[in-house]
Amino acid sequence: MESSVKILVVDDDPKVSWIISEGLGEEYEIDAAQDGQEAISYLTKKPIGTRPDLVLLDIKMPGQSGLEVLDKIKKIDSSLDVIMLSGHGETQNIVESIKKGATEFINKPFDVKELEIHIRTVLEKKKLIKELSDLKKKMRENQYEDLIGDTEEMIKIKNVVEQVAPSELTVLIRGESGTGKEIIARMIHRFSPRKREPFVKVNCAAIPRELLEAELFGYEKGAFTGANKTKPGRFEVANKGTIFLDEIGDMPIELQTKLLQVLEHQEFVRVGGINNIHIDVRIVCATNRNLEEALQNNRMRDDLYYRLNEITIQLPPLRERKDDISLLVNHFLQKYSLLYDKKPKAIRQETMKHLCAYSWPGNVRQLENLIKQIVVRGDEHIIYESLKGPIPTPFNQQVTLPINYDDGDFKLKNKVGKAVAEIEKNLINRVLMKTNWNRRKAAKLLDISYRSLLYKIKEYKIID
Ligand SMILES: Nc1ncnc2c1ncn2[C@@H]1O[C@H](COP(=O)(O)OP(=O)(O)OP(=O)(O)O)[C@@H](O)[C@H]1O
Ligand SMILES: [Mg+2]
Repeated sequence: MESSVKILVVDDDPKVSWIISEGLGEEYEIDAAQDGQEAISYLTKKPIGTRPDLVLLDIKMPGQSGLEVLDKIKKIDSSLDVIMLSGHGETQNIVESIKKGATEFINKPFDVKELEIHIRTVLEKKKLIKELSDLKKKMRENQYEDLIGDTEEMIKIKNVVEQVAPSELTVLIRGESGTGKEIIARMIHRFSPRKREPFVKVNCAAIPRELLEAELFGYEKGAFTGANKTKPGRFEVANKGTIFLDEIGDMPIELQTKLLQVLEHQEFVRVGGINNIHIDVRIVCATNRNLEEALQNNRMRDDLYYRLNEITIQLPPLRERKDDISLLVNHFLQKYSLLYDKKPKAIRQETMKHLCAYSWPGNVRQLENLIKQIVVRGDEHIIYESLKGPIPTPFNQQVTLPINYDDGDFKLKNKVGKAVAEIEKNLINRVLMKTNWNRRKAAKLLDISYRSLLYKIKEYKIID
């Protein structure tokens, strides 16, 4: 224990705190209170951060009993650990005190060395709980933090990221769906001097064409019907930071000219505006499209293509770096066990072989989703079902429509709307599973545009 441990001893017998402070070493700082009232007023006067690490509380005291005081302490600070000091034959009180939130109890008279072991165990446990919750919080915040992989290709990519991140260069990230393009974009921002400024992501494929220009560049009041006030675009929001233009291959050709102007001069005009707006934004783009084909079909301007192609990071599909699979599996097992409070279970060797041999058309995203399901359901056998084709539960069940006919709402539109949404959500889920989260293939099967599929995934919060 690095710093001193602060303990409050609450006992009507002053000998108890004296024995404790004599018996424990110098690393313990002991304060004493002779009854409940004194203990409560001591604790309420101490602001958070200066309160003791632990309270030792006698059960039998004149005036308020230990149990009453325990209640009050927990009201002041429920995270404060309390060890009850009880005389022999007070079993009922022990049960009561544990129910009320006491961490431990120790019988009187006690041996100070034995007490110290109890204290250390309690504090150690408290430290572990705090570390675990900090870790979980960090993991929730930094979903995209870790780029896992130590194959030669991945090490090269990490080196390129570290080299280009501090520069102002525009970076184009290419790779199949689920290979980690977004992770790389976020890393570039994090390793750049702009890291404390905004990182703004725009998915060019998910926003309807006619709205994309206004979304990116903002608009002036009255620019079009419904433009009741001036609104800055995503480029302005990203000022001083990084903008991540995802699915750049889906940017309509008319907008590419405007983007090129931003790339060249860091300037643009809002929709319906006349003044040039100057911004300072680093641009990172990504695509899983074949840009060369788009170039040939005149869906991409060649000057933009060459400008974007200055620095390209090409992410390999997972099937070309199979040596990373076991590393990724263990990483996701740990990540989701922690997130879902499950005991981490190792994958059997035979199953791991199966995972390493598979071709992963949905790349790391598909692998991550599968491991997430294994952790949640606690059964690795779904690997065999799921990699062979049938869609795992819960998506292979009949859809139960969430309709309440007795809620007084008789509007046909409302009821039908709800039913349609439920069917859409379930069907999209099934098709995504079937196509291993290949969203372009899924859109084709569903016979809807890629854009509207992305929109619906977002709207229905379909897990990814
Ligand atoms: N090398 C990696 N290490 C750890 N996690 C990864 C790695 N690559 C991808 N992932 C995880 O896989 C999922 C998909 O990654 P990401 O969103 O970056 O893919 P993408 O290439 O942008 O795919 P898409 O083209 O479909 O948008 C994410 O949850 C991400 O955390
Ligand atoms: Mg992406």
